Amino acid sequence: MKTTSLDRDRVRELFDLQGSYNEATGGKFSEDPYPIWHRLRSEKPVHPGTVHELTGISEPLMFQGLPYPDREHFSVFSFEACNEAFRNPRVFASSPEAVDIDPESGSLVHNSMLSMGGVQHRQYRSLVQPSFLPSNAQWWIQNWIEEAVQLLIDGFVDDGHAELNVDFCAAIPVLTITGSFGVPIEQALDIREALSRDKQKIIDILAPIVAARREEPQDDLISVLVQAERTDESGTTQRLSDEEIYTFSLLLLAAGSGTTWKQMGTTLTALLQRPDVLDKVREDRSLLRAAIEETLRWMPTDPMFSRWVTEDIEFYGQDIPKGSVVHLCVAAANRDPERWERPDEYDITRPTKSTLAFGQGAHICLGMHVARGEMTVGINALLDRLPGLRLDPAAEPPRLVGMYERGATAIPVLFDTK
Ligand code: HEM
Repeated sequence: MKTTSLDRDRVRELFDLQGSYNEATGGKFSEDPYPIWHRLRSEKPVHPGTVHELTGISEPLMFQGLPYPDREHFSVFSFEACNEAFRNPRVFASSPEAVDIDPESGSLVHNSMLSMGGVQHRQYRSLVQPSFLPSNAQWWIQNWIEEAVQLLIDGFVDDGHAELNVDFCAAIPVLTITGSFGVPIEQALDIREALSRDKQKIIDILAPIVAARREEPQDDLISVLVQAERTDESGTTQRLSDEEIYTFSLLLLAAGSGTTWKQMGTTLTALLQRPDVLDKVREDRSLLRAAIEETLRWMPTDPMFSRWVTEDIEFYGQDIPKGSVVHLCVAAANRDPERWERPDEYDITRPTKSTLAFGQGAHICLGMHVARGEMTVGINALLDRLPGLRLDPAAEPPRLVGMYERGATAIPVLFDTK
């Protein structure tokens, strides 16, 4: 990223919270859903119905797996059952098309890897995976995350106050991903603007970069993608076409920006509302990793992911017909008392146990180490550069809201200036 400033007003305008917590995914929902999910789980692990209906929301909501009005819907609330479904992609497929075709045939043609299945998904994922391995987290941090984080803090460090959700958390993931594409910061904001309205505009920005990297690779993600190749069992060499690179880039923007933004905001909210825990983390930064993991368990930003059932099954006492949509409520699974003691408590000293916030099995989040890198570098930098960081007692305190995309309302903070 070769730039030194960022238009803060434009950032605010583009990352408008009202726009993000839109009604379609249940943005207006501001109650605590966990008591209801505890009750449902204690009755039985699998219930007929969608997660929002079972939570008491009657208006139609949209998310992956919704609305599909012609299909039967079931929701899963225990850790064990959700985990099992994630790990059985043959029966619990990631797209409706897989229901009527053999997902192992490799003949499915889908738009993005998120909805692919079987051989096609494995081959595609293995082509793009290397850049996202834990060993490459530093590549992301040094090339893009660190600079985006410092640039954003530069914008408010002298003010003594900030609104961290929009001025900080929202922008980091988009700047990281567009930085990795080789897009300069001014255009990064154009990409953010086009994301929900005009995908062709994003492709128009990417096309010359892809062409240039095919000629002369640089140290960025598009260069890795144009060079990636894999020889399959039959000896055929596979490479990604331009269209596949555009599709993957759009998936990264869609899957990696709103999620990391909201998860970072939730982590900051949890810490700022517990000053004693924040102090411990400030003193001993090795605890930050545990705080991030505990937030992912306690309040994952996307509480539900869906699957399409490819054959008639009985699953944890519930008959589920072929073609049904099964909603895996990872948020409820992450507070299953069978797996965690005092599951509603936010406790960063818990023994480490895997959660389902990043999913599980073949589709487990490809970008999870990038997301962890963004949250770790971002929060560490705030603690380093903003002494006395605390919630603004005169402002409305942050609340955690939303049904299918959960995150904090504004996070107004004060800090000392030199
Ligand atoms: C805290 C932030 C994030 C959360 C909570 C999250 C969560 C998830 C979950 C639960 C899945 C699995 C979906 C399913 O099984 O149907 C997933 C998949 C995915 N995520 Fe993330 N994600 C985050 C950040 C990111 C970032 C930063 C990137 C990219 C840089 C990313 C890229 C992807 C991709 C490409 C997939 C599809 C993987 C596949 O289908 O094999 N995610 N994410």
